[in-house]
Amino acid sequence: MSPHLNLPNRVTLVEVSPRDGLQSESYFVPTDKKIALIERLVSVGVKRIEATSFVSPKWVPQLADAEQVVAGITRYSDLVGFQGLVLNQKGYERVRHLGLIREIALVVAASESVNHRNSNMTVGESMSQLTRIVRTAKADGIRVRGTIGVAFVCPYEGRIPLERTLNLTGMFVESGCDEVALADTIGQAMPDHVYELFSRVRERWPDIAVAGHFHDARQLALTNIFAAMQAGVGTFDCSVGGLGGCQFTKGAPGNVATEQVVYMLSEMGIDTGINYSRLLDVAEFALDLTRPRIPRSSI
Ligand code: COA
Ligand code: ZN
Repeated sequence: MSPHLNLPNRVTLVEVSPRDGLQSESYFVPTDKKIALIERLVSVGVKRIEATSFVSPKWVPQLADAEQVVAGITRYSDLVGFQGLVLNQKGYERVRHLGLIREIALVVAASESVNHRNSNMTVGESMSQLTRIVRTAKADGIRVRGTIGVAFVCPYEGRIPLERTLNLTGMFVESGCDEVALADTIGQAMPDHVYELFSRVRERWPDIAVAGHFHDARQLALTNIFAAMQAGVGTFDCSVGGLGGCQFTKGAPGNVATEQVVYMLSEMGIDTGINYSRLLDVAEFALDLTRPRIPRSSI
């Protein structure tokens, strides 16, 4: 490997298709199919999976079966960490005794416009609720990730000033989060911006784990992953088949496809622990879940 590049030997991928991927589908993917997707991901070597979210079923009916999904996952090893998304105290109360979910992702958006649309709260209201949840979760022995949505660019307010995302990062770190994830929810971040922001985060908080979450509107997600790795980031979210989006954020496209990330990394000699050829079958399975139901006889 070139001595001039700052690349890790190993990268951790967090598979978000069961949550980010299925939340914005126009119809409800049956619970048993969601469980099958999760168990297939486990079987090809995925070690961190965002299984579902614990938000209001009125807002996200596609994931109204969160508890049933979690209860139905039986084929996994103890090496796999399951994560659930939480936006408010009620969501945390639902997740805290589930056992299988040993990690929560708490989400705030860096812009008021998106945060209001996503959670009906101001950024300040979200942060005061979320930082309280961090303290309770840590006392409960649950790992906590603080995720900052639209950390780079907002569809309504444009480019987010670096200091705003850094301030939110600082609040998550100080409250006791184990990891902070910066999300390019609408896939409009440029690689120099990604490099600069992650470099600043790493400089200010060298001991906090950081993760990148890139959507792929401009086919720059892989480039952004590369830029983030140069800044020392070794954990990335991705979604088989490139599924994903957010119905509360204008223009949010699919996530970077896990199979593309695994391919790029493995060709560069970076280990993900995931079996690429078997992952392609899982991507096919995931895409089938989201295709309109057309009886084969009528094709
Ligand atoms: N789980 C289940 N139900 C919940 C809930 C949760 N985490 N939080 C609130 N509710 C229920 C309340 O009990 C109430 O139900 P009722 O009408 O039967 O009494 C209803 O939802 C409204 O509660 P309220 O606290 O007023 O919430 P809100 O309408 O202000 O919405 C959120 C706040 C956070 C619940 C909502 O914005 C949300 O779920 N957003 C999801 C966005 C999302 O998932 N985005 C993608 C990932 S970032
Ligand atoms: Zn996303």
